[in-house]
Amino acid sequence: MYWMQNFLSVHWQLSILLAPSELQKDEAEDMQSEQEETIMPPPLEDPELNINHPYYDVARHGIIQLAGDDNSGRKVITFSCCRMPPSHQLNHTRLLEYLKYTLDQYVENDYTIVYFHYGLKSLNKPSLKWLQTAYKEFDRKYKKNLKALYVVHPTNFIKILWNIFKPLISHKFGKKITYLNYLSDLREHLKYDQLNIPQEVIRHDENLRQKHKGKLPPVVKIPPPRPPLPTQQFGVSLKYIKDKNKGELIPPVMKETVSYLKRKGLQVEGLFRRSASIQTIKDVQKLYNQGKSVNFDDYHDIHVPAVILKTFLRELPQPLLTFECYDHVLGITSVESSLRVTRCKQIIQGLPEHNYIVLKYLICFLHMVSQESIYNRMTASSLACVFGLNLIWPSKGTASLSALVPLNLFTELLIDFYTNIFNSRTVPGEILP
Ligand SMILES: *[C@@H]1O[C@H](CO)[C@@H](O)[C@H](O)[C@H]1NC(C)=O
Repeated sequence: MYWMQNFLSVHWQLSILLAPSELQKDEAEDMQSEQEETIMPPPLEDPELNINHPYYDVARHGIIQLAGDDNSGRKVITFSCCRMPPSHQLNHTRLLEYLKYTLDQYVENDYTIVYFHYGLKSLNKPSLKWLQTAYKEFDRKYKKNLKALYVVHPTNFIKILWNIFKPLISHKFGKKITYLNYLSDLREHLKYDQLNIPQEVIRHDENLRQKHKGKLPPVVKIPPPRPPLPTQQFGVSLKYIKDKNKGELIPPVMKETVSYLKRKGLQVEGLFRRSASIQTIKDVQKLYNQGKSVNFDDYHDIHVPAVILKTFLRELPQPLLTFECYDHVLGITSVESSLRVTRCKQIIQGLPEHNYIVLKYLICFLHMVSQESIYNRMTASSLACVFGLNLIWPSKGTASLSALVPLNLFTELLIDFYTNIFNSRTVPGEILP
């Protein structure tokens, strides 16, 4: 590895020599934006962040955040440079540790990183040495399941860095990186509205658009939402689906994916951890929305129905566990351990009847999956990590990293103690043991 470091630093120096004007330009841009923003935004205080969090000092800045699954069913992690405080106020070693701590919850799942470059200034720029360390320490386990890295608002600085790292980065890894000049370009890859994009980044994007007006192709206007098709299944409420399906309580998408997975997926290793081809997912969603039948055998990929099930939950206009429950669920960690199952039961009892029934149906299945964990390696805890954010999210913005602990714990308890938690209410059509 020594030669690599050496090579890197030589290369770095060379790049500076070769591209002084670009660097200066970059610095100029930085200066300009520093002047533009004399008022530093107040540090983002995360109300859910507990002072006892092992990385409280770094986490409180909100540099790293989570968003729900992207269009291929992968976890999304955002990194916002503009939230990095001046270097002397942030321990970059800790930041790196925190990043790994976050990723550790996800390394076994496919995931995506969205990197907002705007706001990286000379004041808060980490050193090149830090970047080297970061790259080195991101060993295979982190790189393998990273499926896409979106770099938003890249500048010359990034392009220079890219040239430095290029020889180190495998061709395969290089292909995962996509540069996006405008925020709107993100829309085709993920659920834009559920991303936690800093205000500064949004403003910067607007400024860029203003500046490049005329040179830019006209902004593709997002078509106003069309009224849903009568056969629509994704993005409409449980009630809507029920009313269009002769009062059937369990949405057809759930019924079909669950029964398919029960037949063919229970013993598949890493079920629900993998993503699927974005095109296939779109195609299947379209078929469902048009009321056509879907035969999962045609796709030869067990992860397709798995991603479809997650996507269905994720695209509900209101989470299955409802917005009202969000704060109750967050509180689960402050309940004494021995009382938590009872508390879960109480919270679940408060759900609207329809949500309760659908949830019971889903958790019954997930419980079944967890029973096969010797084969599929999906314990209640790993399933909770996958499903937590697809079952509940806040009505505004995205769940913060610190919210993840209670959200996942709650989900894990539901799966683990399924029989106990759901025994008091039987649901219509249920086959009793
Ligand atoms: C930064 O964090 C590292 C690791 O947690 C620690 O060893 C180091 O002393 C810290 N540096 C400062 C300046 O606090």
